[in-house]
Amino acid sequence: MTGAGVPLERSSGTPASFRDLWAEIAPIGRDPASGGYLRYAFTEPELALRDWFRAQAARRDMTVTDDGNGNLFAWSGDPWPPDTVLTGSHFDSVPHGGGYDGPLGIVSAFLAVDRLPRDAAAKVGVVAFAEEEGGRFGVPCLGSRLFTGVIAPDRAAELRDAAGVGFAEALGARPAGARPDLLGRVAAVVELHIEQGRNLDVPVGVASAIWPHGRWRFDFTGDADHAGTTRMADRRDPMLTFAYTVLATNKEARLSGAHATMARVTVHPNATNAIPSLVRGWLDARAADAATLDALVEAVTKRAVDRAGRDGTGVRVEPESVSPEVAFDARLAERLAGALGGVPILPTGAGHDAGVLSGHVPTAMLFVRNPTGVSHSPAEHATDADCAAGVDALAFVLGTLT
Ligand code: GLV
Ligand code: MN
Ligand code: MN
Repeated sequence: MTGAGVPLERSSGTPASFRDLWAEIAPIGRDPASGGYLRYAFTEPELALRDWFRAQAARRDMTVTDDGNGNLFAWSGDPWPPDTVLTGSHFDSVPHGGGYDGPLGIVSAFLAVDRLPRDAAAKVGVVAFAEEEGGRFGVPCLGSRLFTGVIAPDRAAELRDAAGVGFAEALGARPAGARPDLLGRVAAVVELHIEQGRNLDVPVGVASAIWPHGRWRFDFTGDADHAGTTRMADRRDPMLTFAYTVLATNKEARLSGAHATMARVTVHPNATNAIPSLVRGWLDARAADAATLDALVEAVTKRAVDRAGRDGTGVRVEPESVSPEVAFDARLAERLAGALGGVPILPTGAGHDAGVLSGHVPTAMLFVRNPTGVSHSPAEHATDADCAAGVDALAFVLGTLT
């Protein structure tokens, strides 16, 4: 890791300089077996990335502040100047995710600030949001939801990870919750992010919208019993209801042109030779509009309930987080796309902290090309040249906004 005392040149947007900074964080939290990243919020690798953030700030003589919600901010001048422009993203990953989703926006933010004149740089805050993926505590964009008041601090404090550790315990304090005193100083937010579909065939694009999406927990209940002795006709096996619901999810999504996935499941007691008493599965559903999303979730729920009736099992559905459609500031998106030479403006099905912020302040996103479109996987990738083009674009955008 680069030491805090190393002097820094104020011009770093070349592919080589991107590569150098990227190389500093690339090993952090990487699982050698899968090649993917395990960077859950407030675990050792994510804390190491936070140390790296502080070291980068120190190299640049920037001041680091936090908002009491786990979000970090770095400032070239006084913290939270009037008409602050925030830029950054998140360090945390999904389990065995790619290295670009999140950290690319933070590395690019530091490199872009390096290229701004001092007075412009003084208006920019580099931000690292906490728990964007919801990979540890279940609710995505938790840091930005807290900062903007979209989630109550009491609810966030009670969220628990798989080991039973509470969010407040991981944070080291009860979260502060909404910070209108800070948010009121923000004039604009720009998040640079790797593109996550197969939708961008030039190095950089601008976001138009985020599909409405959410997470619903399905609890399927039945009777634990012996796998060898319980007659097939006598079973109340929630695994069957779950399995049917997984298939129904896929079918309903295809029928409605939406995206829906059941990719996470826990089973109790999770024994080879015992019929389970509880199967808990999470539905991740996304659609281009809210009506389609609502109809999809309703259809999946109905299919699960009908099937539970036939299986003699129970099913309970709990929404854990639902994010409305985001339409990014269209005038800002067009202005930025035009200023960048007429780059594409495109929607995404992926959630982002910028989406949460967009409900409160003018917000834009820049996407960097992803040659295969693969994301949330070790195969996620962007070329150094495209990432450097992203830094150029971000520096240019920040220059126009400050
Ligand atoms: C975050 O990346 C999400 O879209 O789930
Ligand atoms: Mn992600
Ligand atoms: Mn992300």
